[in-house]
Amino acid sequence: MARDQRDHYYRLAKEEGYRARSAYKLLQINEKFHVIKKGDNVVDLGAAPGGWLQVAQKLSGGRIVGVDLEEIEPVQGVITFQADITHESTVEKVKAALGGDADVVICDAAPNLTGAWDMDHAVSIDLARSALKIARKLLRPRGNFVVKVFQGDMFMDYLNEVKLEFASVQAHSPAASRKESAETYVVAKKLLTGPVRKGNMLDVEIESMGRSGDGVAMVEGFAIIVRGAKIGEKLRVKIDAVKPNFAFADILERKG
Ligand SMILES: C[S@@+](CC[C@H](N)C(=O)[O-])C[C@H]1O[C@@H](n2cnc3c(N)ncnc32)[C@H](O)[C@@H]1O
Repeated sequence: MARDQRDHYYRLAKEEGYRARSAYKLLQINEKFHVIKKGDNVVDLGAAPGGWLQVAQKLSGGRIVGVDLEEIEPVQGVITFQADITHESTVEKVKAALGGDADVVICDAAPNLTGAWDMDHAVSIDLARSALKIARKLLRPRGNFVVKVFQGDMFMDYLNEVKLEFASVQAHSPAASRKESAETYVVAKKLLTGPVRKGNMLDVEIESMGRSGDGVAMVEGFAIIVRGAKIGEKLRVKIDAVKPNFAFADILERKG
């Protein structure tokens, strides 16, 4: 069955002029999650031979930058160059090529598989961490991020790291991924840029009441909604959920 599936997307890619069958993974991810919209500026990390770049170009038509260790044959309207996404200097090079913030960062980078499962998983996690770091530096507030990861025992830790930085995060395997493949895609929407993250504990003072009847404290201009709190209360709270413009918190301690 897996063979038929591979052949289907392989043939389709040839017919439709995509450089790689992986193009359909991005098309399917986008159909479900709407990560790339018309006019978006997109950065593609690990982009060779360029199937995702072709898809990004088709979906957005905005400014698109692709980076890979390998040379990428030119794609019309796309800026490409050779660089290692695990190197610190790459982010500045991408930023200069993009000329501004990115709306979306996508990463299909994969190590050369050795067949040693633990090793391949560890390198994949390393690449995905580099991609997350670059995404945090390049994305505009509320920007989106898609990254490939080979599953393994560090996957949940990585997923939780991404969850700290984005308002909505899901792991998804598109139909175009080979059935036997260990790969999955982390689809993260709405980069969080507020000053708090889930699990943070902090001291606040309730300044006003929200429409829901909960107390509201401000931290660096960012609203923290504290369940069951009243105006004037000084509290130690724990952040329970973070949205792009506000966070929810529970009371740990009343400070009088
Ligand atoms: C599966 S291919 C990407 C296919 C691409 N999405 C497409 O549709 O054509 C994975 C790519 O990741 C690249 N890669 C692996 N490690 C990298 C690194 N450290 N920096 C940049 N690219 C990397 C590889 O050179 C390879 O071209």
